[in-house]
Amino acid sequence: MKIGILGTGAVGKSLAKGFAGIGDDVMVGSRDAQGEKVLAIAKEVGHGCRAGTFADAAKFGEIVVICIPGAATENALKLAGPDNFAGKVVIDVTNPLDFSKGMPPGLLVGHTDSAGEQIQRQLPKAHVVKALNIVGNPDMVNPDFPDGPADMFICGNDAEAKKTVTTILDKFGWTSVLDIGGIEGSRVLEPLTILWVMYGSIKGTWRHAFKVIRK
Ligand SMILES: NC(=O)c1ccc[n+]([C@@H]2O[C@H](COP(=O)([O-])OP(=O)(O)OC[C@H]3O[C@@H](n4cnc5c(N)ncnc54)[C@H](OP(=O)(O)O)[C@@H]3O)[C@@H](O)[C@H]2O)c1
Repeated sequence: MKIGILGTGAVGKSLAKGFAGIGDDVMVGSRDAQGEKVLAIAKEVGHGCRAGTFADAAKFGEIVVICIPGAATENALKLAGPDNFAGKVVIDVTNPLDFSKGMPPGLLVGHTDSAGEQIQRQLPKAHVVKALNIVGNPDMVNPDFPDGPADMFICGNDAEAKKTVTTILDKFGWTSVLDIGGIEGSRVLEPLTILWVMYGSIKGTWRHAFKVIRK
């Protein structure tokens, strides 16, 4: 499939490699299509990976992945052009983290709203699915935890879009994907990241993930 990745940070790069690795055709988007970071990622990913603007990547992708910091997402989507997302599956990996008061971060939005819902409102014709926001970028693709397979929680309003994302996650190596319902589930999944950060700070590890233990 054609995948548009919005973002040239660690997440954009990891996922560009991940999608290219399962045979997809990838374009990575940036504010500057000739920027050093986006050109370097395209080169490193290989497999014909292209560099473009946010709008180029959003247009290119049959599936579009948002890998932008919470505080900048609204602007990035404006630059990408909301019409370029119409009818598409959009994977929202973002967390609306607020580092202004140091560690652990707070949330820019929460309890009665979430970044996932804000993105769905900004892209009303897209099918937004929150996924992969609760794990570090090195483990988004081929997660391999010695304590056993971790769970990945997803949410979104469109059942078909969630099926598509579940298939992608399965190809990435996530054997347990738990659908927690509509996009408002982001109100729970985004704060879970704070717990992930706190655990990392306490234990001195950034290679951990969540697992639900059943009886
Ligand atoms: N890091 C992780 O392991 C991890 C794990 C789970 C979830 N997440 C979430 O994933 C998202 C991406 O994380 P990251 O660490 O890859 O982020 P990052 O490196 O901070 O993101 C860089 C991207 O944001 C764009 N950007 C920055 N300021 C902007 C602005 N004012 N307007 C428009 N675009 C702007 C940059 O554009 P240019 O290309 O033009 O510079 C670049 O493409 C975040 O929401 C984060 O919370 C991260």
